[in-house]
Amino acid sequence: MTKDTILDVQKQFEEALAKAKDKPSLEEVKNLFLGRKGKVAGLFSLMGEIPPEARKEVGQMLNKLKLDLQAKLDGKIAGFSDEKETSEWVDYSMPGFSMPKGSRHPLTRAVDDMLSIFKRLGFDIAYGPEVETDWFNFESLNFPPNHPARDMQDTFYTEGGGVLRTHTSPVQTRYMSKHQPPIRIVAPGRVFRNEAISARSYCLFHQIEGLYVDKDITFADLKGTIELFCRMYYGKDVKIKFRTSYFPFTEPSAEIDVSCFLCGGKGCRVCKHTGWLEIMGCGMVDPNVLKAVNIDPDTYTGFAFGLGVERMVMMRLGINDIRILFENDVEFLKQF
Ligand code: PHE
Repeated sequence: MTKDTILDVQKQFEEALAKAKDKPSLEEVKNLFLGRKGKVAGLFSLMGEIPPEARKEVGQMLNKLKLDLQAKLDGKIAGFSDEKETSEWVDYSMPGFSMPKGSRHPLTRAVDDMLSIFKRLGFDIAYGPEVETDWFNFESLNFPPNHPARDMQDTFYTEGGGVLRTHTSPVQTRYMSKHQPPIRIVAPGRVFRNEAISARSYCLFHQIEGLYVDKDITFADLKGTIELFCRMYYGKDVKIKFRTSYFPFTEPSAEIDVSCFLCGGKGCRVCKHTGWLEIMGCGMVDPNVLKAVNIDPDTYTGFAFGLGVERMVMMRLGINDIRILFENDVEFLKQF
C-alpha cells in the first residue's frame, strides 16, 4: 500500500458519491467504502505491510480518509432527507377525518325534556340523596311501621342502616323540612328496588317527583298541572284519565293514564289493546306528611305526583325490555 493506493480509493469514492442520486444508492456507497468489509477497512488491514518508520504517517492518512468520507456521505444523506420532507405535500382539499360524536342517553334526554316543561310551569328543581334514612323514605311519608314495602324483599339496606331510596318521595319531606310554603318543586333521580330482574323490572330506575304546597291548593290544581304537562309532552290531543288509587302519603290518591300516543286510543301492541298507558301516581299530600315536617295542615294543602321515566321512554321508543336502557350497548345508543 502506497499513498497512491489511498488517494485512488479517495478518487473512487468521489466518483461514486457524485453518481449516487438517491438515498438507497448512497447507502450502497457507504457500504462499499465504510462498511465492515469495505475498501477503507481493507486499507486498514494492510497496515501490517507498512514499514514501522512509515506507519505513523500512513495511519494518520487513513484516519483522515475515513473521517473525510464519513462527513461527505453524512452531508449528502442529510440533504436527501430534507428533499424528501419538502417533497411531501398536503392536499388541503381532501376530506378531513370525522370525529365520532356522542349523544345523550335516551333516559337523560327524557328527564331533561320533562324538567324543562315543569320549569316552564314554574317548578324549581330539587335533589335528594340516593342513600336515605328510614325516616325520610318511609316514616315521614306516613308508612305504617309494618308496611310491606319496608320488607327486605323490596328495599336495599346499607350496612350502616341506610335505605337505598325506593322512590323520590323522600325529597318531598326533605325539602319541606327546610323550606316553608309556597313550595313548588320537581325532583328527578334514581330509585332502587330489590326486585327480580326481568324484561319489566330492574333493580334501579328513574322517577320525577312533583310537589306543590301552598294555601288553597286543590285537586283541581293537580288536575290542571298534570293535564298541561301531558299536553306539552305528548301533544295537545292526548286524553287523560284519573283512576282512584292508594299511597300512604297522599289522600285522595290517583293513578294517571294517558291515551296511547301510538294508536291514539284505538288499541295497539304498545297499550296492550286497552288504548291507555299508565304513567304516574299522584294525590293530595296527606295531612300526616305535612305534620311530620311541621307544616300546618289547617293552613296549607298540597299535591304530589311521581312519574316513572323508564316506562315513558320504553313506550316512546317501543322498547319491550327495560334492561336495554342500562346495558349501554353502543349499537343501541348510537341510534339516538
Ligand atoms: N312514590 C310513588 C311511587 O313510587 C309515586 C307517587 C309520588 C305517588 C307522589 C303519589 C304521589 O310509586
